[in-house]
Amino acid sequence: MVLLACAALFGLWLFRSQCALFSRDKGADLQQPAFIFRYAENQSEDYPTTQAAFAFAEMVEEETEGRIRIKVYFDGELGDEKSVIEQLQFGGIDFTRVSLSSLAEFSPSLNVLQLPYLYRDANHMWRVLDGEIGDMFLESMAASGMTGLSWFDAGTRNFYNSVREITCMEDMKGLKIRVQESELMVDMIKALGAQAVPMAYSEVYIGLQTGTIDGAENNWSSYESTQHYQLSPYLLLDEHTRVPEMQLISNNTLQKLSENDWKIIQDCAKRAAEIERELWAENEKEAEEIVTAAGVIVTTLSEEEKKRFQDAMIPLYEIYAAEDIEIVEAIRAIR
Ligand code: GCU
Repeated sequence: MVLLACAALFGLWLFRSQCALFSRDKGADLQQPAFIFRYAENQSEDYPTTQAAFAFAEMVEEETEGRIRIKVYFDGELGDEKSVIEQLQFGGIDFTRVSLSSLAEFSPSLNVLQLPYLYRDANHMWRVLDGEIGDMFLESMAASGMTGLSWFDAGTRNFYNSVREITCMEDMKGLKIRVQESELMVDMIKALGAQAVPMAYSEVYIGLQTGTIDGAENNWSSYESTQHYQLSPYLLLDEHTRVPEMQLISNNTLQKLSENDWKIIQDCAKRAAEIERELWAENEKEAEEIVTAAGVIVTTLSEEEKKRFQDAMIPLYEIYAAEDIEIVEAIRAIR
């Protein structure tokens, strides 16, 4: 009898403790996000694109009521852009923001959007990217294992070097100029008579320091935030390219999302892009002020020289946009 009572009590205890365990788990589940995603960014913490990534993560977490948490890894912690894109393709990384120059190596039709001297000005580029052409290219990424979410600003790119002031094309001759790991950018440098040295962004500072390269090219914000201006003080404001940047999601990650969460992600990405563009405008101005106050020698080309630089790019259109000439024409027709 006593034995029976003990067995019943033990059974009850076991049942109740299991229930407690179950409910504790259930409670914990409710507080835990369903997904923790990784977002890769190669710029520093206070850079406009990183700040927009934080804003994106915050908006997504709020809108999904904590179901989706996104951790932003900045300063290239998850690798350089090329390796980040590879990881994105198989789902090792869930989100990123990368320069179109890196992305076009994986999806060459994108080259058409970063051809030198393509856009008349920033407004022209935004009319293209925020319109049908931009949407078409965001969607076209799906074929490469990732989906484009939104367009970020990265201003115009300019040459800088540590050897001499550039006032004409002849001054470019022989200079070792770092470019992004992009065939189009390599050919652009060659067309100007300089020597192209493709390398990852994170290696440029040391390259300038050791003399592996004489210079590079980038926008105001990157020139300032990387402190390249301290090693490479001759800046030629030729605005040869306007290379936009894309925020992307891995297709692998996208497949895990409910329709509603996918809508939230798309919406937050668009809002993050608006934030980035505002932050960009402020940061670009500040960077220009810092760099010029530091004594950088800023040169612009005469109209005639600029025309020579532009003409030297014509063969690139034939190589990189041969099959997309109607897109180039459509871009040019946008007012
Ligand atoms: C810009 C861009 C980066 C890119 C870098 C580069 O800074 O924002 O994404 O990596 O150019 O020149 O490589």
